[in-house]
Amino acid sequence: MERITVIGAGNVGATCANVIAHKDLAKEVVLVDIKEGIAEGKALDIWQTSSINHFNTRVTGVTNDYLKTKGSGVIVITSGLPRKPGMSRDDLIKTNAAIVKDVTEKAVKYSPDAIIIVVSNPLDVMTYAAYMASNKPSRKVFGMAGTLDTGRYRAFLANALNVSPNDIHALLLGGHGDTMVPLPRYTAINGIPVTQLLGKDELDKIVERTKKGGGELVNLMGTSAWYAPGAAAAQMVEAIVDDQNRIFPVCAFLQGEYGLKDVYLGVPVKLGRRGIEEIIEIELNKEEKKLLNDSSESVKSVMKVLDDMKLFE
Ligand code: LAC
Repeated sequence: MERITVIGAGNVGATCANVIAHKDLAKEVVLVDIKEGIAEGKALDIWQTSSINHFNTRVTGVTNDYLKTKGSGVIVITSGLPRKPGMSRDDLIKTNAAIVKDVTEKAVKYSPDAIIIVVSNPLDVMTYAAYMASNKPSRKVFGMAGTLDTGRYRAFLANALNVSPNDIHALLLGGHGDTMVPLPRYTAINGIPVTQLLGKDELDKIVERTKKGGGELVNLMGTSAWYAPGAAAAQMVEAIVDDQNRIFPVCAFLQGEYGLKDVYLGVPVKLGRRGIEEIIEIELNKEEKKLLNDSSESVKSVMKVLDDMKLFE
C-alpha cells in the first residue's frame, strides 16, 4: 500500500504508527496531530528506529496538513481526549464527537477511497460519528475494540492456564464498555474448549476482568492504555493491507444481523482489502442473546446523545 494515515499523535496513535512501520505495511505512514511539532517529533523518533528495527516504511509527521495524507488506503482515527480515573468512556462524547467529525471530514476529502478504522472513545458511538461524517458505506467505516478486548481476554487466560497466548482463540461481542460480551463458549485452547481446562469461577473472574480491562489500566496509570490499543488497530490495518480475510470482532454497523438494526456494535467479521467483507452471524444461546441485546441498548442510548447533539444536520 502506498500510504496509511494515523490521525492523533497521542500515545495510541503513535504506537499504532510505530507498529505499522515495524510491520512494513506501506511505503509511508503519515501521523497527523493538531499540536504543532508533536506528530513531526514522534514520526522522526520512530523513523530513526528504521535501521535498528529493519523496516522501510517512511514515517512522516504533520500538523493539520491533510494534503500530506492524500491517497491513503487506510485511515486510523485516534483523536480525542483519553479517560481519566473515575470517567466512563461515555463521558468523553461531547468533546470527542466534534473532533472525530472534523478530522473525518478533512481526511476523507483527500482520501475518498480510504477505509476508516476508529479508535477514539466512546468507541462504538465515535465510529457512528465517523460513519455519518464520511458519507461512506458502513463496510468501510468500522471501529477497533474487539481485537483489543480479545487481546486482553487471551492474555489473562494465558496467565491462568500457563500456556502460550498464541494458542488461545477467543471471541467477544458487544460494545466496548462494561456491557461487552466475552464468549467462553467460543473460547478454545488449540481446539480444546476452555471450559474443560478452567473452572466456572475462575473463568467468570477472567470475563469480568476483561470487561473492565481498560479501566484497570486507567486506574494504574491515570490515563488510558496505548500499547495494546495501538497494536490492535495495527493488526486490523494489516488484515486489510494484506487482504487476509481474518476473522476479528469489529465494531460494525448492524442492519438486521443478530436481529439488531442501526447500531454500531462488536460482532465477528471477515476483514480484507475491501474492509468488512462479511459480517458473521454465530449461534447464540438465550443468555448470550440477552447480553448482546443489553449491550446494544446501552450503545444506542449513547448514539442518541450524539443524535441529540445535532452535529450532522
Ligand atoms: C481501552 C481504551 C483505549 O480500552 O478504550 O484501553
